[in-house]
Amino acid sequence: MTARTSDIARAAGVLRAGGLVALPTETVYGLGANAEDPAAVARIFQVKGRPPSHPLIVHIAGAEHLGDWVEEVPATARLLAERFWPGPLTLVLRRGRRVPLEATGGLETVAVRVPDHPVALALLSAFGGGVTAPSANRFGQVSPTTADDVRAELGDAVDFVLDGGRCDVGVESTIVDVTGELPSILRPGGVTREDLEAVLGYPPAVPSTSHVRVPGQHPSHYAPRARVVLVEPEKVIAEAELAQELGHQVGVFLPPSFTDAPVKAHAVVTVPGSMAAYARGLYGFLRELDRQGCDLIVASLPAEEGLGLAIANRLRRAAGPRTTA
Ligand code: TXA
Ligand code: MG
Repeated sequence: MTARTSDIARAAGVLRAGGLVALPTETVYGLGANAEDPAAVARIFQVKGRPPSHPLIVHIAGAEHLGDWVEEVPATARLLAERFWPGPLTLVLRRGRRVPLEATGGLETVAVRVPDHPVALALLSAFGGGVTAPSANRFGQVSPTTADDVRAELGDAVDFVLDGGRCDVGVESTIVDVTGELPSILRPGGVTREDLEAVLGYPPAVPSTSHVRVPGQHPSHYAPRARVVLVEPEKVIAEAELAQELGHQVGVFLPPSFTDAPVKAHAVVTVPGSMAAYARGLYGFLRELDRQGCDLIVASLPAEEGLGLAIANRLRRAAGPRTTA
């Protein structure tokens, strides 16, 4: 199942030839291209159906290469890179000359990360350059956390899929902007706000969820086909049963404290009590309820601390208005 040495060599060749490779990371699968090849980068946008103004993340093999891709490495960036890389943290810095504007959506800043996955790291080392990779899903859809998800999502549009098993973290990296005076979190993810505070000595700023203005972040994103409705945990069962009675095919995200309750709905997922397990399973649960033919998913938000912050962010956006996507 998992990629072999020959697969890594083949994938590196595909990247060198300007092709697209789906690669596993610890967060979600990425759709990778040679970061320095504008034509290959343009193909990513085409395959994803993503607007070209949406910036991509450049994946590199190690923190020691960061200086090659950015104009300068401020002390805070150095500190966070040393502490969290390889890992689910993306740093936004001033763009180095090497990064084409196609990869940054025209911005003078660039997002960079070192993924914590042996297959991704082997590919990055074998390839020797940077790999721009957004999540390997069509624009606005649920991110893939297995190689099968990627194949179901992109099929032949990708030249090669590297299989690295199920992603361990399950939600995307935390994006931290370190271009300003103080670091701020642009997207919550696998590295928690509490982890960042422990290293920085102060809490990084988190923009309020009501006015997310990060380029490439739409209110509706990470969305399954089924409509997602968020209610208080104690109202999940009643809301689901009512909608089911009204003729919907309802999928339920049952909060862990209600596991023994029978629910009259089309499909039920019991949400894990551990936030790490919940994050790991989240996108798979959404995909599974789609597969089972649900047209409505009733869920509640976890407490917004630790990984719960990233899970709540993805659920809110899965439930967001779809007109803008
Ligand atoms: O975990 C992850 O980060 C995954 C894996 C594959 O590495 N990648 C991922 O990429 O989630 P994507 O393209 O789905 O999300 C990247 C987001 C963009 O939507 C954008 O909001 C932000 O990163 N971003 C990228 N460059 C930026 C920049 N220069 N300034 C601000 N935000 C940026
Ligand atoms: Mg994405």
